[in-house]
Formats: sequence, C-alpha cells, structure tokens
Amino acid sequence: MLKVLVCVSGGGTNLQAVIDSIKDGRIKNAEIVRVISNNKNAYALERAKENGIPGTCVSPKDYGCREDFHKAFLDALREDAPDLIVLAGFLVVLPEEMIREYKNRIINIHPSLIPSFCGTGYYGLKVHEKVLERGVKITGATVHFVDEGTDTGPIIAQKPVQVNEDDTPKILQKRVMEEAEWVILPQAIDWIANGMVEVKEGRCRVLA
Ligand code: GAR
Repeated sequence: MLKVLVCVSGGGTNLQAVIDSIKDGRIKNAEIVRVISNNKNAYALERAKENGIPGTCVSPKDYGCREDFHKAFLDALREDAPDLIVLAGFLVVLPEEMIREYKNRIINIHPSLIPSFCGTGYYGLKVHEKVLERGVKITGATVHFVDEGTDTGPIIAQKPVQVNEDDTPKILQKRVMEEAEWVILPQAIDWIANGMVEVKEGRCRVLA
C-alpha cells in the first residue's frame, strides 16, 4: 500500500478528488496518511478531518526565519515516512533538502499545459488570467514530478481543456479543475501506486 502525504494551501478540491478516488477504487493500493497545510484556515484541513485523515498545519508565520520553518515542515513530513508526496495546490517553495530526499517521489498538479503558463508567478487564478490575456484556445492541466526548478520536472500526465470566448478566469479555472485536474491527479497517483510510472533521462513513461 502506497503511503501518500498531501500538501495543501487552500480549498482542497484536488485533495477531495483523491479521497473520492481512493474510496471508489479509481486509485488502488494507496492511502492518504496525512494532510499538511501551511495555512491553518485552509478548507482542505476540514476535508481531511471529515474523512478521518490526520491533518497538520505548519505555518511559516509561526517561525522566526525560513530555515526554522523548513526544518519543522521536514520533520512533519518525515514522521509518516510517506512513499509519495502530492502537492495539491500547495503554494510554498519547497526546501531543496526535501527535493533531494524525495527525488521522483513528489508530484504536483499545475493548472496549464506545461511548458505554457508555468514557472515563477504562475499559480492558481493567475494562470487562467494569463491564458485569457494571451487568447489561447486550448489550455489544460499537468501532473509532473517535482525537481529543483519551478514546474520543470518530468511530466506524468496532461489533459487539454477548451477555452471559450466568454470565459472569465474563475469560469475557466472551474472547467480546468472539473475536466482535467480532478481526473489526471487521481490517475497519476493510481499509476504510481501500481508501479506503472518509469522515469528515465528526465522523461516519464507510463507502462499501461
Ligand atoms: C489548483 O487549480 C491547482 O492546480 C493550483 O492551485 C489550485 C488549488 O485548488 N496549483 C497551482 O497553481 C500550483 N502552481 P484546490 O485547493 O481546490 O485543489
């Protein structure tokens, strides 16, 4: 059984998609051992509680410097010895030590088709604002492994989503979540839990 730890910062709809997929069998051989938030008001923590999953808040506001926060965050992670860390709307830059320690064991969901609309400053609603500003006709979501760069790690899964003429950033965000994020994140976790993802020379192969 793959031990999954989910890191969140906000609403937690992707966390909910993972919880539901484990319950209904779309994700096999995986369990969520803990949810960690950097924000004590994150609704995602409520979702964890409602589903009997231990939740922890490690907020940078409670530490005098970044180093102390990173140490506390890493200590909290290590406690459950997770096999896989899922960043599900986690808006904190990860400590380098964590990226090294969990190489090819951290995945992130990003709300665009990487390498478009990603990198520093592209998160949450901002991504969809930029997509509409540029006028692209297709956007989507990506699940990728996390490396030292921002949104640069090996890509596991992507799904395109249509952009409509009258979209607002919020309407587009909702469509990308419903049609892409909530589908490919559980899918990627299921693949990993069942030994179907291989990383070679910076690229992923899914052994379907
Ligand atoms: C999601 O759209 C996720 O793709 C995005 O934050 C949102 C979190 O929503 N993540 C990023 O932008 C990371 N760069 P949720 O809390 O409802 O899952």
